[in-house]
Amino acid sequence: MAFGALVGILIYLKPPPVRFVYLESSLSKRGEAIFRRESCLSCHKVFGNGTSYGPNLDGVGSRRSKSWLQQYLRAPRAGVGVKTYRLRMPAYDTLKPVDLDALIAYLQGLRQRDTGDQLINPPG
Ligand code: HEC
Repeated sequence: MAFGALVGILIYLKPPPVRFVYLESSLSKRGEAIFRRESCLSCHKVFGNGTSYGPNLDGVGSRRSKSWLQQYLRAPRAGVGVKTYRLRMPAYDTLKPVDLDALIAYLQGLRQRDTGDQLINPPG
């Protein structure tokens, strides 16, 4: 009885989970196609699809600014994810600038909502 009540209270107190959303635009749609073409999911996961060789990209557009993403895709480095990874993030500096822009628009569209259901804006 007491245990059941405690569980009930804990469930009640637990904030609702952070929700990941995708804000789609025509540019982000093109970026999504490039994301697939470049096999980003062979190392990353988005909405449950893909693998965990690199960090999960759900909500990355709320965690990272546009300029951060632009720089990182051209010149990635280790130590940005939540742990140490065995694979390395390749540099995408050979992508055409238009493709890189679209890809970044896609990443920017991967956002998260806070526990109050507000969209979290990227830093900066
Ligand atoms: C061979 C595996 C691999 C591939 C392919 C790959 N990545 Fe990564 N990526 C990583 C790893 C590993 C990291 C984390 C590096 C670290 O912190 O050590 C990373 C980090 C990132 C980050 C930063 C994540 C964060 O939480 O800040 C972004 C954004 C990203 N990758 C996007 C992409 C995109 C877009 C593509 C496809 C164009 C891609 N990656 C392809 C392995 C990969």
